[in-house]
Amino acid sequence: MATMALRSTYAVFALAITLAHAYVEHLDDTFKELRKKDIWLVEFYAPWCAYCKTFEPVWYEVGAELKSMGSEVNVGMMDCTSHSSLASELKIRGYPTIKLYKGEKVFHYNGPRTKADIIEFANRVTGPAVRAIPNQQMFQNVMTHNDILFVYIGGSSTLKEKYVKTASELIVYLSFYSALENVLPKVVTLQEVPAVVVFKDGTFFIYDEKQDGDLTTWVNRERFPYYTKLDSYTLYAMGDSGKLVAMAVENEKKPSEESIRFKSLIETAASEYKDHFGRDYQFGHMEENSYLNGLVMGEVKAPCIIVLNLSNDGYFMPKKPLNSMQDLRSFLDGILEGKVQQRGGNGAAQRVKRIYIDTKKTLTTMFEAAPIWTCLIITIPFGVVGMLIYATCTAKRVEEDEDEEPLREVRKALAQKEKKKDAAAAKKKD
Ligand SMILES: *[C@@H]1O[C@H](CO)[C@@H](O)[C@H](O)[C@H]1NC(C)=O
Repeated sequence: MATMALRSTYAVFALAITLAHAYVEHLDDTFKELRKKDIWLVEFYAPWCAYCKTFEPVWYEVGAELKSMGSEVNVGMMDCTSHSSLASELKIRGYPTIKLYKGEKVFHYNGPRTKADIIEFANRVTGPAVRAIPNQQMFQNVMTHNDILFVYIGGSSTLKEKYVKTASELIVYLSFYSALENVLPKVVTLQEVPAVVVFKDGTFFIYDEKQDGDLTTWVNRERFPYYTKLDSYTLYAMGDSGKLVAMAVENEKKPSEESIRFKSLIETAASEYKDHFGRDYQFGHMEENSYLNGLVMGEVKAPCIIVLNLSNDGYFMPKKPLNSMQDLRSFLDGILEGKVQQRGGNGAAQRVKRIYIDTKKTLTTMFEAAPIWTCLIITIPFGVVGMLIYATCTAKRVEEDEDEEPLREVRKALAQKEKKKDAAAAKKKD
């Protein structure tokens, strides 16, 4: 009885898995043609990629859910080791890579790898570039669902054309909306219409072409909240926004008074000096972690305040601890004025240092996991190289000796002496 129950549970379970799998197509070289016909959301993987294996169930769920929503998006996955020429043609560089293909367009996904986020992405990029918000109630609704909300206000205009163009470029990151002026909440008053407005951090900012430059650049810079909890993913995503990131680094295990002070200084800078720093800085707090330590190469001692330039991997640290808002302001201003020396960066010396540190880290990890094996791996090449060096050196010495006439003569004489001795010995034997 029990076994039967078990068996049927197993059968249901197996069926569920098969059904889920049924919505994800395993693609091969025919995808080259296939992608031009329909909309495809594809995960590119490699069988040896352990993370891809862990991610697989999520991908099957994405397939099943999009199907049940009646989405026109087809979900597939491709083993890039079996179809390597197509993979390189599609410019797949890491695993897993997620892309959505729609006609001639390709949208690269680089958000968190969760079912909800991926489905949201698929729906967003397959929908219209700009969504119209018809009424106030809807506006409220959209506002509560988006931490960052870009809205074009007004009718048709050249600004709108630019906005649509920006939207179609940046829709991989977030949604874009449009509305008429009467749909806006009462508190929002615009001096001029048409306008592009971003709502974030409980307030709003209006795009100003003269000050902010190109619309796409502005949107790219403003698409993060001014103050946010940072992690390695958000830092990575902020990389191309072009703003400096000023943050308080905490040690979660040992929260101290100093740590709380740093955090509140950064928070204050973000909320009260928005007009002064908003254009150049992004603020946040972060726990000390390996990503950050990798970036600054092990020099972070939490708690501290640090400013990152993600465009060149450089960073700035104050010489003395910052005790007041005055200190922080002059530090941040100093960076903008070029008075604070940048450390790190991706110059040649820094790159060498980074390679050295990375290698050391890798070797330490390897050594901890398998000491003997690691020693062998390191010593064998060194042994071979050592032997080569030895061979080269000794070979060279012989050459050098040949140039030294007197020594050569002596040796010749010695050799002849030996020969004679040998000959004499041979004679004796006879
Ligand atoms: C950050 O890096 C970019 C790219 O190298 C550079 O143009 C910019 O001046 C840097 N910002 C600061 C404040 O050093």
